[in-house]
Formats: sequence, C-alpha cells, structure tokens
Amino acid sequence: MATFNLKINNESHQVDADPDTPILWVLRDNLGLVGTKYGCGIGQCGACTVHLDGVAMRSCSIPISALEGKSITTIEGLSADANHPLQEAWRQHDVPQCGYCQAGQIMNAASLLSNNANPSDADIDQAMQGNLCRCGTYTRIKAAIKTASKLS
Ligand code: FES
Ligand code: FES
Repeated sequence: MATFNLKINNESHQVDADPDTPILWVLRDNLGLVGTKYGCGIGQCGACTVHLDGVAMRSCSIPISALEGKSITTIEGLSADANHPLQEAWRQHDVPQCGYCQAGQIMNAASLLSNNANPSDADIDQAMQGNLCRCGTYTRIKAAIKTASKLS
C-alpha cells in the first residue's frame, strides 16, 4: 500500500492503494465515481474511458502509480450540469439502449471534439472504433456526435 495524491474532476483526493491498482477501481471503489464502467479489463472495449490531462484513456489499463500529478476527468466531471454539448445531443438522439457503454462513448467523443471540432464521418469512425456497444447504438452515437459538433 502507498498513498497517492490525485486530481479528479478538479478536486484533490488522497488515496491509499496498491501501486498496481488500475485507476478504474480507485474511481469506483475508493471514490464512488461509478459512472466509469468495467467492461473487459484489458483495454479492448472502451467502457472505462476517462480523460487523462484531457486525452481519452482506458482507466482499466492505467495503474494509480502512473497518475501522480496528473488530472483525471470522469463522466461525472465532464460538465457542471450534464450540459456538455455531447450530453445534450445524446438526449436529443435518445442514444443509449442498456446504457452500459455510454459513459465511455461520451468521454471518447469529448476527447475527439476537443481536438477536432467538426469531425467528418471518417474521423468519427476512426476515433470511435475502439468503443464497443453490444446494443449496437453506433448509428445514433455518430449522429449525436455530429449534432454536438454543431452545438459546441
Ligand atoms: S474495461 Fe477498459 S477497455 Fe474494457
Ligand atoms: S447501450 Fe448497451 S452496450 Fe452500448
């Protein structure tokens, strides 16, 4: 066990954990930020996507020991009142089915839009290809990203 200082959603936290603990479990079990989901645990599905210094990362694959001094944003911290353009667009398009993958989808899409405010279909396909949805909501996800790019 060791003590780590983390900045999550613009708040400072001190966490005691094994240095190898994936940040996903620190978020969920230590801090109660359960919007970030566990899917595969091996970096293959995107359900656990958060932002690390503003860039989408798989939280199941990053140990807490690698995060000292870094800034992490989870779905809970993406906007003040669930009013990020992507969240508005997600509601407008009624994107989720079961919902399990959706926080990861939105966080990955937010990273895309922060780098490319007006992505083409190909840009969206390329950026989102690693975020899996077993309910097959891909068409609505793409439409919502396009809508959000016009709202931003
Ligand atoms: S749970 Fe992290 S990529 Fe699947
Ligand atoms: S909405 Fe069910 S897994 Fe994506």
